[in-house]
Amino acid sequence: MANEALTGTSLASDPPAHTRSRATLTENLSPRATRPEGLHHGEGRHPGHRTGGEGLLEANFVALFTRHPDQLALVREDPSLVPAASNEVLCFWAPVHAWGRRVTQDVTIEGTEIPAGAQVAILFDAGNRDPRHYGNPDAFVVERDPVDHLSFGDGPHGCAGQGLARLEAHAVIGALSRRVGRLVAGPEVRVPSNTTRSIEQLPVLEVIPA
Ligand code: HEM
Repeated sequence: MANEALTGTSLASDPPAHTRSRATLTENLSPRATRPEGLHHGEGRHPGHRTGGEGLLEANFVALFTRHPDQLALVREDPSLVPAASNEVLCFWAPVHAWGRRVTQDVTIEGTEIPAGAQVAILFDAGNRDPRHYGNPDAFVVERDPVDHLSFGDGPHGCAGQGLARLEAHAVIGALSRRVGRLVAGPEVRVPSNTTRSIEQLPVLEVIPA
């Protein structure tokens, strides 16, 4: 199942174990994690490791499907859309806004020179909404399946916990679409943060069963 959740991602096969922490995380969180001996939560040092009740991901699902009941209905009609819907939520509202990189050599990107040694912030939402890559990027469309979104970063240091996060996402969207016909919610209260897009409170006012 984890392998399926990682289909098309940079972690579709086990990533290179080139650092100690990566090796430990790979052991616990990569496709191998679903072996019967257990699934262990890692000690993620970034805000993304708190995928549970703290609103980083699951509350984003609920908030977005509340705003777009037609998209929830599509997933209900066709459960095979669950992975695509999960990718769309992650792409549409990147749970982590930005991540840093230190530039190792002089580089020019679209006319802007970035010197070796500079620190740059990579804005995931900007990439995820790049109209040169995705048509109609500001629409929430569960059938789009933006499998190459940037919300887990990319490359050898792409999120090591994304297998676990994706499994959680599939479980939440699957359960929501099976059990809920429509949700009515009040305005969400966001956690003020320049790093994460988290929801502190999301008052669910009405649940209409499927
Ligand atoms: C919605 C959930 C999550 C999001 C959006 C997220 C996002 C990210 C992002 C953007 C990065 C930086 C990637 C890069 O530099 O290219 C990252 C790295 C990382 N994440 Fe996550 N993450 C999530 C869940 C998790 C979980 C559940 C764990 C572990 C239990 C985890 C562990 C890590 C680790 C260890 C790294 C550093 C990897 C390295 O430097 O080699 N993440 N994550």
